[in-house]
Amino acid sequence: MIKKKICKIDKIEKNNFFKIWIEDFKDEIIVYKYKKKIYVKSSICPHFGGPISYKNDKYLFCYWHGLKFSTENGQCLNQKSFKTCLIDYLYEVKKDYIYVFKK
Ligand code: FES
Repeated sequence: MIKKKICKIDKIEKNNFFKIWIEDFKDEIIVYKYKKKIYVKSSICPHFGGPISYKNDKYLFCYWHGLKFSTENGQCLNQKSFKTCLIDYLYEVKKDYIYVFKK
């Protein structure tokens, strides 16, 4: 299992969300807070690899073809036939820092 230190927890408070490339994961992640809970997911769209953004505290959004994804479980919200969810990463908060894991 790979464990990476990402940032101080207050970075999410200052910015609605942020993204960071993690070389060891070969993935860019998006970190955001929704209903007081932190979420860490891949910010690379499972459709064709477009960039994922966090939109108005309501959903995750890809500008390339307009798919919307649930902030909680990463499922596609606006195209029922598209079943692939955003990759979800485990994380922990230790001494004010966020750490993310990949198996
Ligand atoms: S690449 Fe994201 S919606 Fe198509």
